[in-house]
Amino acid sequence: MWSNTIFTCVITVFAITGQSLVASGKGREIIGLNDEPSPIDPLYTKPHIDKDEWRDKPVRHRYVHGIFNGTDLRFSFYLPPKEIYKGRFFQPVSAISGSENVVFATFVVGVDLPDMGLFGFDSGAAMVESNQGRLDPLPGSDPTIPGYRGSAATARFAREVMQKMYGPHRTYGYVYGGSGGAYKAQACSESTSGIWDGSVPFIAASPVAIPNVFTVLMHAMRIIGDDYEKIVDAADVGGSGDIYAGLNTEKKEALQEVTRFGLAPAAWFRYTRSYLSYAAVFSQLLDNVYRMDPTYFDDFWTKPGYLGSNATQSLLKARVSHKTTIKAMLTAKQVQALGIDFPVPENVKNVTDNAPLALWLSDAPSTDLTGSVIKLETGAAAGKWVYTLFMVGPIALITYGERNSPSLGLMKAGDSVIIDNSIFLASQTYHRHQDPGPEYPVWEQFRKDGKPIYPQRPLLSQRYDELSGTGTTQNGKINTKMILVESQMDEIALPWESRWYENQVRKHLGADMDKHYRTWMIDKSMHTPPDRMIPTMYPAENTRIVSYIPVIQQALRDLVQWVENGVPAPASTNYTVVDGNIQLPDSAAQRLGIQPVVTLKANGKERADVKVGESVEFSGVIELPPGIGKIISAELDFDGLGLYLNTGTLQVDASASSERATVQTSSRFWLKGTYFPALRAYSQRPFQNDTAAKWAKVHNLGRVRVVVA
Ligand SMILES: *[C@@H]1O[C@H](CO)[C@@H](O)[C@H](O)[C@H]1NC(C)=O
Ligand SMILES: *[C@@H]1O[C@H](CO)[C@@H](O)[C@H](O)[C@H]1NC(C)=O
Ligand SMILES: *[C@@H]1O[C@H](CO)[C@@H](O)[C@H](O)[C@H]1NC(C)=O
Ligand SMILES: *[C@@H]1O[C@H](CO)[C@@H](O)[C@H](O)[C@H]1NC(C)=O
Ligand SMILES: *[C@@H]1O[C@H](CO)[C@@H](O)[C@H](O)[C@H]1NC(C)=O
Repeated sequence: MWSNTIFTCVITVFAITGQSLVASGKGREIIGLNDEPSPIDPLYTKPHIDKDEWRDKPVRHRYVHGIFNGTDLRFSFYLPPKEIYKGRFFQPVSAISGSENVVFATFVVGVDLPDMGLFGFDSGAAMVESNQGRLDPLPGSDPTIPGYRGSAATARFAREVMQKMYGPHRTYGYVYGGSGGAYKAQACSESTSGIWDGSVPFIAASPVAIPNVFTVLMHAMRIIGDDYEKIVDAADVGGSGDIYAGLNTEKKEALQEVTRFGLAPAAWFRYTRSYLSYAAVFSQLLDNVYRMDPTYFDDFWTKPGYLGSNATQSLLKARVSHKTTIKAMLTAKQVQALGIDFPVPENVKNVTDNAPLALWLSDAPSTDLTGSVIKLETGAAAGKWVYTLFMVGPIALITYGERNSPSLGLMKAGDSVIIDNSIFLASQTYHRHQDPGPEYPVWEQFRKDGKPIYPQRPLLSQRYDELSGTGTTQNGKINTKMILVESQMDEIALPWESRWYENQVRKHLGADMDKHYRTWMIDKSMHTPPDRMIPTMYPAENTRIVSYIPVIQQALRDLVQWVENGVPAPASTNYTVVDGNIQLPDSAAQRLGIQPVVTLKANGKERADVKVGESVEFSGVIELPPGIGKIISAELDFDGLGLYLNTGTLQVDASASSERATVQTSSRFWLKGTYFPALRAYSQRPFQNDTAAKWAKVHNLGRVRVVVA
């Protein structure tokens, strides 16, 4: 299931690209036409099955596990009984490599999805997965291996096994992956042919994402600090709408910069979680930036045109350089024994269990040290450094232990170190010096008369095959049908990036694009689904945002219909990008896509001001884009706890094919305060056979503000 732990967030995002640079393997491209299968990969010619058994849990299936001899590629197939199988397989491609045991795992990192094995069986599909040719989460010296080659060899062999088991038939294949895995789902479609028939990349980014989306976010979050609550209130329903109100000039400018870069103002409610987790992810990527452009980090503090040379008070105050010693080196188990919540998920367990991954320092300043470098001054590791994920008191957590940071193994208690955040702070305006040109309108804010305002550095986006973890750069030359699922409030895979990708696909397919490609932009959705388990989050996340998981399930099912039966998938969402942010039409008929549009009113408005005990009338309207399915249910949450205990009276307008419904109810509030009641409504597509089941229940929500005095 989804976990609320920091560690999960930490590796939620992009592929970890820690080593790809060391021996930067150039992408070996296998290019083919749509149905012409790519040639057999010479690396993967000897598949060997080492386990083949029937299992009854969680439901009956044949489990096949194996290895490609002479390589690190391992795979698992989950093959349902003949009466369930309908001639297809689904294949997840995770952001991080290293495990062929994710499909039925209960605790996995990042944007791997829960329950997809059962969903696949209920969709007539076998499930296929691999460790992407890697024994660890890093892309290794040839990132094309985890990028698509390991997955392609696995898919090819899975077909052979399915032919033997179910008899000769055309076996359709579908690949899906989120975030760093979206790069892979795209690489699979672009760099192979005749392997998969459909691909669902979700929460997808573009070739300019790393490091720029992180740097601009870290900059704004550092400067705005606790004032984020003002932004949340202003941006929320029934708020002032002026997100800049009450902020000083430096904060206003930082907020404007990140907003115009693509961060939705409504996404700020996740400030605490986002700052910690993305700082931690970024601290792992920073090493690559440093290796690719080392002089930047001095220029920033010394040369004109860089923020550090004319530093603001806040920047000077944030900078720390502190000398101390190592008190002890700690493994994951020892960190946990100290009571620090740092669980190790199954798909990285083997890497982290026994290696040191934390430094206990003799002392550390109480300033924010997130992202700091710890440099060794004495001992066997003198001159080496590691990046901290985050600090818990004087304990600095370093992710992935020894494999990611070989020098950790050389560090000993008593060694003298300097903890310093100059590199992390300098990185926070790096995007200003990375203008990738007019294809990327969010950089317009850093241009004057079409020219960059700030001094420019070599473009890291031109080395994206190294940074994406796939050994390739997205080019839109798809060889499968594709439905790209993007989140309208995504805080790190910025949603305008799907517009960039569409433009590439259009260059490739021209007028035929509509026959093969869709973007579904998901309203009120972020980079990870809402997590109701965070006790400190009020109102609960699931009263603010929705999960994209049912949409991914629907996208796979619509691809099946499109590929196998020629039924085109519902239209792309009709969204516009205005100054970096996504705008969606208010009416479902204009918005299109896959999701209901939900509006809620309290006493007829977005905000109701009432007295304790006074009755408040709630009225909701739910609309579906034409022809995509039916509204099936609705539920209300009055107190912000996210339990959705009230269903109200749902009136479905049958005359309009169940595409429009209204909800009426009333409630009283017995305690003074501000409440954000929410209406959540679900829809399903017509050709599904499990209306009562839990899959693909696509939903959306509407909210109001009720102030009780
Ligand atoms: C793969 O290796 C195993 C031994 O580990 C051997 O039994 C098998 O024949 C090999 N398969 C192929 C196709 O080379
Ligand atoms: C230094 O920064 C301030 C704003 O913080 C700005 O007004 C001033 O022009 C800058 N000076 C130079 C030399 O860039
Ligand atoms: C964990 O690593 C050890 C040593 O590298 C290896 O022998 C073992 O098979 C690995 N376990 C898993 C589950 O990958
Ligand atoms: C898309 O939305 C715009 C409004 O933003 C509207 O004018 C246009 O008609 C819509 N397109 C379709 C196909 O509905
Ligand atoms: C729906 O399921 C029922 C029984 O579960 C089955 O008899 C029927 O053929 C299915 N319909 C479709 C369209 O798959």
